[in-house]
Amino acid sequence: MRSFISYIGGKSRRAAAIAARLAARRCYVEVFGGAGWVLFAREPAPVEVFNDADGHLVNLFRVVREEPAALARELSRMPRSRELYDALKRAPRPRNRVRAAAASYYLLKNAFSARVGFSASKLYAGKYAMLNDFAPWAARLNKVTVENLDFEDCLRRYDGPDTAFYLDPPYVGTERYYAATFDAAAHLRLRDCLANATGAWLLSYNDCAEVRRWYRGFRQEGAPAAYSAAKVGAAGRRPNAGRELLISNY
Ligand SMILES: C[S@@+](CC[C@H](N)C(=O)[O-])C[C@H]1O[C@@H](n2cnc3c(N)ncnc32)[C@H](O)[C@@H]1O
Repeated sequence: MRSFISYIGGKSRRAAAIAARLAARRCYVEVFGGAGWVLFAREPAPVEVFNDADGHLVNLFRVVREEPAALARELSRMPRSRELYDALKRAPRPRNRVRAAAASYYLLKNAFSARVGFSASKLYAGKYAMLNDFAPWAARLNKVTVENLDFEDCLRRYDGPDTAFYLDPPYVGTERYYAATFDAAAHLRLRDCLANATGAWLLSYNDCAEVRRWYRGFRQEGAPAAYSAAKVGAAGRRPNAGRELLISNY
């Protein structure tokens, strides 16, 4: 199935190809979950974990799983409008978890490229619909553990020979596209964690010299670009950055 949201860096176009490359293990962990495109594209494993350091995104996943009808009801009162979009963007998230999830969903659905300002065009209809049915995603997430951890903590907690990790970190040059903190040092921290992991892991990155050097000694496969926004964002800076690299320890 597809994810219920578009997302900056989301693997909507490559989810099936990536899912097919994952190792089969009892426990599947998506460490940088985002919109969960790969999780939703694959056959469920007996144990599954979705993790992201962005608390708003994680709250949205939990509410979709646990209160899909309440979320749909809340959204049915939120028409597509630039004014509401701007007001939600400026305001802190409501304390109520369903309202907070509705605001997150609304902002993602109505943003250009799932990140920038309100999306309106004379060529394309908006992607936001006030009437939603989250039941299929609630059912799919029913037994998924949803975590809100930094990647290092997530890897430590779930590592083991019966675990398969998929990792899709912010790419080199796109670290600041996300609310969660990921800086230049985090790339190397991630590499060090993965070098010591005992589980099978598959990692997506932009194809650039730094990444190839950091992961020398691991299997590296070039692949077509996975998503458009990062391609635009990073491609101007370094040649080949629009291409994707899949790295694994198996
Ligand atoms: C490229 S996106 C993942 C996209 C996802 N694979 C999809 O298809 O939708 C990267 C994600 O990493 C998360 N992230 C950033 N820093 C993190 C950290 N330190 N620990 C865990 N997650 C982090 C961001 O919030 C973002 O959702």
